[in-house]
Amino acid sequence: MTTSAADTSADQLKSDQLKSKIQQRQARVGIIGMGYVGLPLALLYSEQKFHVTGFDIDQRKVDTLAKGGSYIYRITTDEIQAAKSQGFTATSDYAQIAQMDAIIICVPTPLNEYHEPDLSFITDTTHSIAPHLRAGQLVILESTTYPGTTEEVMVPILEKENKAGLKAARGTEPAEVATNEFFVAFSPEREDPGNTTVARRDIPKVIGGLNPRASELAGALYGAIFNRTVPVSSPAAAEMTKLLENIYRCVNIALVNELKLLCLRMGIDIWEVIGAASTKPFGFHPFYPGPGLGGHCIPVDPFYLSWKAKEWDFRTRFIELAGEINTNMPYHVLSSVAGALNRHKKAINGARLLVLGVAYKKDIDDLRESPALTIIELLQKDGAQVSYHDPYFPFIGKGRKYDLQMKRAELKDLGQYDCVLIVTDHSDYDYKQIVQEAQLVVDTRNATRGIKSAKIVHC
Ligand SMILES: NC(=O)c1ccc[n+]([C@@H]2O[C@H](COP(=O)([O-])OP(=O)(O)OC[C@H]3O[C@@H](n4cnc5c(N)ncnc54)[C@H](O)[C@@H]3O)[C@@H](O)[C@H]2O)c1
Repeated sequence: MTTSAADTSADQLKSDQLKSKIQQRQARVGIIGMGYVGLPLALLYSEQKFHVTGFDIDQRKVDTLAKGGSYIYRITTDEIQAAKSQGFTATSDYAQIAQMDAIIICVPTPLNEYHEPDLSFITDTTHSIAPHLRAGQLVILESTTYPGTTEEVMVPILEKENKAGLKAARGTEPAEVATNEFFVAFSPEREDPGNTTVARRDIPKVIGGLNPRASELAGALYGAIFNRTVPVSSPAAAEMTKLLENIYRCVNIALVNELKLLCLRMGIDIWEVIGAASTKPFGFHPFYPGPGLGGHCIPVDPFYLSWKAKEWDFRTRFIELAGEINTNMPYHVLSSVAGALNRHKKAINGARLLVLGVAYKKDIDDLRESPALTIIELLQKDGAQVSYHDPYFPFIGKGRKYDLQMKRAELKDLGQYDCVLIVTDHSDYDYKQIVQEAQLVVDTRNATRGIKSAKIVHC
């Protein structure tokens, strides 16, 4: 629907108003999903003096935030309280969407039991927003997903279910602005949990608007908290950018995992080789082997693209091969533990094992898709008596795939275990002492580098 000059100028005015509200820190920002991505983002906007409202369906999170508390290890209560003094509030009431100027969606995008994209969190959120949508609002999706989600899944729901007949702005020329529009963009989250070397502000923010004006508005919004924004031509290009980044990691980790298996057979230290190769000042970026992939992103996101590719009669072979190698790593750990025990004339069946570190990577409080959970389950299936220690998790309850119900063991009397298995190399551990006390150490992360002992088995 193209419009009269009067409508056009009214709408341009609306988006100009939003832009100047953003620039003057008067725009109200609603962030949906107060998890690992959404909560830190809310705090960044609060720090920059925006009035922020966090939306979540998890009432416990809403209540904790209301009391000034935190449920994410690396976010202190002081930070929440500082944000509250800037007007930060949390709610489960979607009616408040109407008061927002910009809405950023940071909800989960897992795989279902058939290893296919589960977009239900995105669609549920979109259904909840739509009835409260008003003209001139900016809606941005940050959740990692396949190319096309924003335009093919989210926008149709917003257009169909809003009460005022609003449409997403698609015009490419200022004169094409339609009446009653809202603005839509996709901008992938690139956070690297636990990374203390790159400040969040310094991570460039890729933005793909549904039209240039949406890109411009999203650019202004993110420009307030990030030092650099990178506009791309469409939401699909931005969605694909995130997947390329994660597939690049997934494939390279698989490559190095495979080479590790070969190096173990050949008696070559893969870590030494990676260290040496890393001295090359160009054309090489180091990736490190491990006990298997973990986290919300790398084990999951590539399969969003494989799934979508099928629609185009296309097989993503690198993704499938990498998936096969990485998925096999916990089984390699299992056979390494069996081999190490065997050398001590012991079997896994009946052995007392301590798994050290269960988070999916060092120094973070995130268990999602952690290979430690698969390894514990495999060891238990083979009859081992498994205990665990992790400074971040006093208890392992029910996850998406597991229900382990284990309580953290104390980090003492390590000699009582037949084997200590290092799965996550948290910095807090004193590895020298661990090796000293343990009977046998299987190290999946090279955490014991520099320690000379016949007790250590690298795997
Ligand atoms: N965690 C990371 O490091 C990271 C990095 C890059 C990208 N991502 C992507 O960001 C997205 C969010 O990840 P996360 O780690 O923050 O997830 P999370 O599980 O920590 O948080 C998501 C939050 O959304 C809430 N939620 C679910 N459905 C909702 C709904 N309908 N309405 C309101 N709230 C709802 C949940 O209760 C939860 O608090 C995912 O797509 C993920 O792939 C995550």
